[in-house]
Amino acid sequence: MCGIFGCLGADAAGGVLNGLRKLEYRGYDSAGLAAIFPEHDGPIETERTTGYVADLVSKANGRFDGAEISIGHTRWATHGGVTDSNAHPHSSNDGKITIVHNGIIENALELLERVENLDYDVQSETDSELIVHLLDHELKTQSSGGTPLDAFKSTISLLEGSWAIAVIMTGMEGILIARKGAPLVLGRGTGTCSFHGDCSHFCVSSDVQPFYGSCSEVAYLDDGDIFYISKDGIEGSEGLRIPEFEVLEGVYEEGDPGIFPHMMLKEIHDQPNALTNVLGGRISADGTRAELGGFKLTPEQMRGLDRLNLVACGTAYYATLIGANYIRQFTGLTVEAFRASEFPASEVCGPNTLTVAISQSGETKDTLDALQEAKKNGSEISSFCNVIGSTIARMTGNGAYLYAGAEFAVASTKAFTNMVAALLLLALTISEIPEKQRKKIVREIRSLPAMVSRQLVEEDGSIERAVEILDGAKSAIFIGRGISAPLVLEGALKMMEVAYLPCLAYPGGELKHGPIALIEEGTPVIAVAPSDSTLPLMESSIRECRTRGGKIILITDHEGPITKFADVVIQTQTTGNVVSPMVNVVPLQLLAYHLAVRKELNVDRPRNLAKSVTVV
Ligand code: AGP
Repeated sequence: MCGIFGCLGADAAGGVLNGLRKLEYRGYDSAGLAAIFPEHDGPIETERTTGYVADLVSKANGRFDGAEISIGHTRWATHGGVTDSNAHPHSSNDGKITIVHNGIIENALELLERVENLDYDVQSETDSELIVHLLDHELKTQSSGGTPLDAFKSTISLLEGSWAIAVIMTGMEGILIARKGAPLVLGRGTGTCSFHGDCSHFCVSSDVQPFYGSCSEVAYLDDGDIFYISKDGIEGSEGLRIPEFEVLEGVYEEGDPGIFPHMMLKEIHDQPNALTNVLGGRISADGTRAELGGFKLTPEQMRGLDRLNLVACGTAYYATLIGANYIRQFTGLTVEAFRASEFPASEVCGPNTLTVAISQSGETKDTLDALQEAKKNGSEISSFCNVIGSTIARMTGNGAYLYAGAEFAVASTKAFTNMVAALLLLALTISEIPEKQRKKIVREIRSLPAMVSRQLVEEDGSIERAVEILDGAKSAIFIGRGISAPLVLEGALKMMEVAYLPCLAYPGGELKHGPIALIEEGTPVIAVAPSDSTLPLMESSIRECRTRGGKIILITDHEGPITKFADVVIQTQTTGNVVSPMVNVVPLQLLAYHLAVRKELNVDRPRNLAKSVTVV
């Protein structure tokens, strides 16, 4: 989703373009930048375009070289279509103030009226542009002695909704920034940096990723923060906090697919390593203990909870459905997974409850809002995030990281697998199941990376044959039972996201209660049927579909009679039924990926989607 990057220092615009490129993975449809040069007096130099950062670089054509203050933006359209004039930055009518904004201004209609009454010429359809005119008005009408920071604060007080904002203006030697409900972090670099050798600079960014290798320190902004950053430091409101910088550790992971044609395929193949990382140090060598540290509540306290809520969106939500199943199976806890955007906090939160958010990015606004509501309603909060230092991870201050490594493809793959693994570890951490049962599960978990590896190298042409069935189909139906019922929801989501194939996913037993009406000659039915206790029932569901003309793509480790009813069998590794979702997800991911490639779609950046969904 939208990305902001700003830079203060030598070659600021170069730094911004570099930063925007590193934010590209978030998903966007247009890009722009603005810059101020030393001794600059007139309107601010800006450039913006629909398309990619590379298009912006060629449009800018070196015009911004030598600038020392610069801000830039990648836009994911919300208010107004994808056009050059809706792209950020937005400038005041005299061109001397320019801003970039992420988030949604909820009282935009009211503010538009105000801005029009003040006779400003509004040039875009965005809510963001209104902010620059309001700021211009505040600056022109503020009492003598007022600073740009004062005017900025007054402007912010008029806004309702969510924002991360960066502003530059002619005559001002720094950047004004504000944050509420949309991520924004500050970076500081001294000494050697990849932007400009020996230097000292400030950067502002929507996430910490671009800072690796460029900034040695980071400071996380909080909601409500409003600052002016200049080479002299950070200025805020009297009596209020100034963010503390901390040493930034970590390396920038380039969104480079290496030998793979796409990031999505690379990330599917990253899964054995990702699993090794999430399990590392969390399972005892003798296989008797599996433990997740980092929670505020001890396992005893968790066992005593009235209820445990899991909140997440999209793929993360499907992982929590599987996780809830584990927690229910291995502990006596009342646990429920909720779509974060539909979380009934006032009904399910209270003292002695725990709400855990699961998020790859750690920035998903719906998930963040659900957590905030949980806290307001008296629940303890915790999280599983992949991005270190992300807003959700910092807000909860306790929980576990997923250690899947940076995930760039919009379609989440390795983060899903690690979410399921982490939730299984949580279930075991809380549970008091008998030693023998625990040992068996831990043994299965330990063999997971190797099993997923083997699943990835199996090449018998079955995926290709299945893709042939799916190519040209109008829709597809996914079915599974037991632990595989939530897994097929994830399989269908992947297929819709990257291959744009309308899909339904149902527990096998539900099919006959309605959706079976959709099956006609040739309708692809993707059935996940590991050899667990649900296998005989899955056989019935498959036969029901086949009798009605369905083309069955069967994902199973079983070699028995069930395979007779399939058009294509995708053979999987035999696992215990607890860990099967983490192995069986692989063919589901590969089916979606290869169908998208066959249709020549943009696999890593599917239309309309963003990696980090920071609006509601
Ligand atoms: C996954 O393929 C999707 N792009 C999407 O559903 C994603 O899982 C969802 O937006 C939640 O994101 P998060 O894990 O970063 O919170």
